[in-house]
Amino acid sequence: MRIIITEDYKAMSTMAARLVAGQLYLKPKSVLGLATGSTPIGLYHNLIDIHRTIGLDFSEAISFNLDEYIGINRNDVHSYHYFMYENLFNSINIKPENVFIPNGCAADLEAECRHYDNLITSMGGIDLQILGIGNNAHIGFNEPDVKFEATTHKVKLDNETIAANSRFFSSVEAVPKYAISMGIRTIMLAKKIILLANGKNKAEAIYKTIYGGITPKAPASILQLHQDVVIIVDREAASLLPHDSTHNCILSV
Ligand code: GLP
Repeated sequence: MRIIITEDYKAMSTMAARLVAGQLYLKPKSVLGLATGSTPIGLYHNLIDIHRTIGLDFSEAISFNLDEYIGINRNDVHSYHYFMYENLFNSINIKPENVFIPNGCAADLEAECRHYDNLITSMGGIDLQILGIGNNAHIGFNEPDVKFEATTHKVKLDNETIAANSRFFSSVEAVPKYAISMGIRTIMLAKKIILLANGKNKAEAIYKTIYGGITPKAPASILQLHQDVVIIVDREAASLLPHDSTHNCILSV
């Protein structure tokens, strides 16, 4: 694992955008794994900037999103589909036919999950996966006690996740209870992974991810077994890391 501690959210987002841009520069046909939530918004806005200023080209890129709520229509403002178009896809030149997001309204959810994994495989696998992290160390919607061998599947959201995500809905009751999520195995098959976290409320999850034992109780801890993970965090999310790890790697960009 490489850990980059940045001064703040802005620096975290800039750093992540440069790594994604570098990936696309070297391999325009990259398969990107993308995440939702408030954390990657700064990264996406930076990518839009790089696209506009120096023409970062997404015309050959392919993207797969990590997850989607079950029962929410793709045009609903609460869907992750809507989020991705609003925060990134509408402002870059990615082709709609190269954008893949699980369909949370599929009649046969099991078939949808199998289809999603097969599509990823048929595109050659994910080159670069972006991850945020939940307060309980979930990645995608892989909640504590996840099965590490799971591929894309239907998940029941933890009450903690429902409470955390209720800020995007009118009430806690309005938050869906289920989602489709890439499984841990799907995520671990990505060639490179960048995990982003900012803010004090992510500090414990980041500590467990890097220094805790590898356990399904902290799903992100499995990343310790991945060969190419970069964790980019701001000072607050890094605040529980041992002093040594915060000493030499504070970068301002
Ligand atoms: C959701 C998403 C995750 C995301 C997490 C953290 O539950 N499924 O992919 O990482 O929330 O969200 P935020 O970045 O808003 O803290």
